[in-house]
Amino acid sequence: KVVIIDYGSQYTQLLARRIRELGVYSEVIQYDDNPPDEIGGIILSGGPKSVNDVDALPLPKWILNTKKPILGVCYGLQLLSKELGGKVEKTEISEYGKTEIEISNDPIFDNIPKNIITWMSHGDSVVFLPKNSSVIAKTKNNIYAAIKFSNNIYGLQFHPEVKHTEFGDKIIENFLFKIAKLEKNWSLNYFIEEKIEEIRNEINDKKAIIALSGGVDSSVATVLVHKAIGKNLKAVFVNHGLLRLNEEIEVKKIFNDLIGINLTVIDAKKRFLDKLKNIIDPEKKRKIIGEEFIRVFEEVSKNNYDYLIQGTIYSDVIESAASGKNTAKIKSHHNVGGLPEDIEFKIIEPLKYLFKDEVRKIGEILGIPKHILYRHPFPGPGLAIRIIGEITEEKLNILKKADHIFIETLKKNNWYDKVWQAFTVLTPIKTVGVVGDERNYDYVLAIRSVNSVEGMTANWSKIPFEILEEASTRITNEVKGIGRIVYDITSKPPATIEWE
Ligand code: XMP
Repeated sequence: KVVIIDYGSQYTQLLARRIRELGVYSEVIQYDDNPPDEIGGIILSGGPKSVNDVDALPLPKWILNTKKPILGVCYGLQLLSKELGGKVEKTEISEYGKTEIEISNDPIFDNIPKNIITWMSHGDSVVFLPKNSSVIAKTKNNIYAAIKFSNNIYGLQFHPEVKHTEFGDKIIENFLFKIAKLEKNWSLNYFIEEKIEEIRNEINDKKAIIALSGGVDSSVATVLVHKAIGKNLKAVFVNHGLLRLNEEIEVKKIFNDLIGINLTVIDAKKRFLDKLKNIIDPEKKRKIIGEEFIRVFEEVSKNNYDYLIQGTIYSDVIESAASGKNTAKIKSHHNVGGLPEDIEFKIIEPLKYLFKDEVRKIGEILGIPKHILYRHPFPGPGLAIRIIGEITEEKLNILKKADHIFIETLKKNNWYDKVWQAFTVLTPIKTVGVVGDERNYDYVLAIRSVNSVEGMTANWSKIPFEILEEASTRITNEVKGIGRIVYDITSKPPATIEWE
């Protein structure tokens, strides 16, 4: 595999992505992580700092000692230059954006034209080469654009992983197959086989537990680990009563009947609703649900399990790496509210280095139905944060039905897959209406649908009026308790996606 040392470039993920697309497994680690096993090549990413800064992230000692092929990109190139005895300085010319370079004959540039456009973003440049190094590409300003430090150590001043760099993929490909002489053997089928074997060897005849939420990541993790250890995996689905209509029945059916996993469904509805009585503050709701989830999970797991399986995926790892270290940190958003602190588990995160779309493809290979794999995100606290004000069973029933109709309408009109997330919100406002000859006084329901990439920002979806009309007519006709429907036309920011 290829190990990418992350020096903080915004393109590090792209590097991992490109390498996998070329059929080689790649993994991103931090400079102070332990060296992984079975390294086939090393890439040093770009980064925002100057290698001359006092707090510049260093080159770990083990890297040059491995004698493995290395490719430094931008900061990576400068780090190699400095480390191997060259000199890096802030030059008068900084290059940002598209820059033409002229390349020399070298295996890393095989099948690439002499002049290509590359993507640069650097203020520092190498001004003095380390011994035995040679410049193999230059910009018009005579800045070193690529350096060969030895037969298997290269550096690029530009970013080959960015689409603006012409033949960038080819350069990466040449590094992988001509310099590092790696094999093209990464595929999801291969990953599945390897992972199952690895998990089986690690857990052996011990027991593992997973909290299945019915979302994509935990579903895929459950099925994967089940393939490895079968009955020794206990999959627990906690029904806090705040789920979508018939969710608990559906999830149980899918996992029991279709996939053959004996899912333990814990009906904790009453516990949760009791605790949530009279609570209107959204943060309190979240906290109560998180804590109660821990209690329920504790009761189920007691101390009978050695391993805890988590559905952490690559974007979660990246996020926690940005905030320091990426080891065994349990982030509260993986499930409703974190996990018991006083229960000792060894944690296994089988999907840790996968992108969301890879997780979905693995799910497909493992036979998980598409509607589980491609469904919209659903918050851990569930409908509790979509009922504004106090949560009652009556309101839950109203919201579940309304939400179901809205989603059904979107699916019927081929809009479900066009939006990131769509749902309804029950407000505590009641307004006047007229039904037949009768005055009516019922709740206002809001419809929300947004388009987004990762949920960090979002635009409200421009769903055709006819579809909104269809949903509105059906909901007011079929759901007792709703007298008026409004469409939320706020984006994020300033609003959040959820209302609470
Ligand atoms: P907001 O409302 O913050 O939502 O714009 C961004 C994304 O996160 C989901 N969300 C949550 N997920 N626990 C979760 O597991 C939560 O407490 C929570 N709050 C929001 C939300 O559905 C959206 O996809």
